[in-house]
Amino acid sequence: MNDKTEQDRVLIFDTTLRDGEQSPGATMTHEEKLEIAEMLDEMGVDIIEAGFPIASEGDFEAVSAIARQARNAVICGLARANFKDIDRCWEAVRHARRPRIHTFIGTSPLHRAIPNLDQDQMAELIHETVSHARNLCDNVQWSPMDATRTEHDYLCRVVEIAIKAGATTINIPDTVGYTAPRESADLIRMLIERVPGADDVVFATHCHNDLGMATANALAAVEAGARQIECTINGLGERAGNTALEEVVMALKVRNDIMPYRTGIDTTKIMNISRRVAAVSGFPVQYNKAIVGKNAFAHESGIHQDGMLKNAQTFEIMRPEDVGLSATNLVMGKHSGRAALRAKLRDLGYELADNQLNDVFVRFKALADRKKEVYDDDLVALMTDSASEGAGDHLQVKFLRVICGTEAPQSADLILTVDGVDHQVTAQGDGPVDATFNAIKKLFPHEARLALYQVHAVTEGTDAQATVSVRLEEDGKIVTGQASDTDTVVASAKAYASALNNLIVRRAKTRPEDIGSVAAR
Ligand code: KIV
Ligand code: ZN
Repeated sequence: MNDKTEQDRVLIFDTTLRDGEQSPGATMTHEEKLEIAEMLDEMGVDIIEAGFPIASEGDFEAVSAIARQARNAVICGLARANFKDIDRCWEAVRHARRPRIHTFIGTSPLHRAIPNLDQDQMAELIHETVSHARNLCDNVQWSPMDATRTEHDYLCRVVEIAIKAGATTINIPDTVGYTAPRESADLIRMLIERVPGADDVVFATHCHNDLGMATANALAAVEAGARQIECTINGLGERAGNTALEEVVMALKVRNDIMPYRTGIDTTKIMNISRRVAAVSGFPVQYNKAIVGKNAFAHESGIHQDGMLKNAQTFEIMRPEDVGLSATNLVMGKHSGRAALRAKLRDLGYELADNQLNDVFVRFKALADRKKEVYDDDLVALMTDSASEGAGDHLQVKFLRVICGTEAPQSADLILTVDGVDHQVTAQGDGPVDATFNAIKKLFPHEARLALYQVHAVTEGTDAQATVSVRLEEDGKIVTGQASDTDTVVASAKAYASALNNLIVRRAKTRPEDIGSVAAR
């Protein structure tokens, strides 16, 4: 590592906005990306991989804006091994106070076969592209994609070439989540021992979770000498996802006795960013997920509850406050006032201007009228709905009444506001949600396929709010919508309308000629 006094410091490289956002359906809007980037910067992430600038105009704009906005973090963009990608990446990240170009190429036999390059040809390309990146930027990261399935001799050869060409960080990706902890450590150790110049660069580990070992593999790599962990919030990412930021950071904190490394992360910000990423990506966190799952600090059995009351350490290895979870979850009711709501929302990480607070307060009162107790998670769901419901939405659910029960068919009466004009329809279906979706489809005909419909209860009890996620696919592109309500069918209708609104925005970007099809027929 460059700075010998920092041998125990592990850099946290967050790729939620690139590798995470790449997972099908996790697309975020420009504003959402900026918001998440700001939260990452504030929590002390060292490097934010903000996107893949050549991938689309939207990605380019987001990376440029994040680069301009970042206060402390290094801002990194991804580029394939060609000059055009690298130049575009530089154009986007160069606005940052601390920019980085990350360029990569697949080096395993399977990946070499795709561009049909032999070992020598690929080595030459690596030399040219890394040199090109280094001529633009003095902070260059290079990744041999599928490193864990690359022949060791060849891996050493290309890592040496990348270092000589000016790479300052060498990232070793386990692209397909194939490695295991001991092998992950051995690979890093081998590279550090064998490659000339290894002492002058930072080695990074980038693990996917296909066998559920991503976090363990990343920590094993650190023990062998890696000093940068690549990860995402909630482990978001393609297939089974990536190493989860919250897991590695808390593992290093809680087990500092056996893993004496430190990060610069403010762990009390973990819960808020986890919730926010879950909301904007449309990927809810599984209940029993380590650190950030709803049950991570819940104790159900009598023995556990008894132990907890006597001494929390009997069944907890970290305190809820360490990850930003307030000890008391029960908060608000219909008698709570504006000031209490503002204070509670501030606690949850939402800083609101007066007019925003007024709007949220009206929604909060409506919810508190329907629900005896309003919990933290209810408020987060409320905030997520407020953020995703834009004034410019083309479709809005105005009225819904469904008839359901044991006698089929079920039917839905719907008024949908389409571009400011109300349209009414009745439709039948196989169950209340199907009837509701059919009604929406009658008023807004489309060919998008329903790729996912998911319901989860925000809190406990029969009056709990349901959060519904809907994912639609059209021409290979995926959009999502999410909404919450104490009525599951209403939440479903709103989530479906929200996904359609996102579809309309996406169509306008990719097929501008279709904007005119936003009209009830
Ligand atoms: O998993 C992977 O190999 C990647 C590279 C682009 C670093 O995400
Ligand atoms: Zn990856």
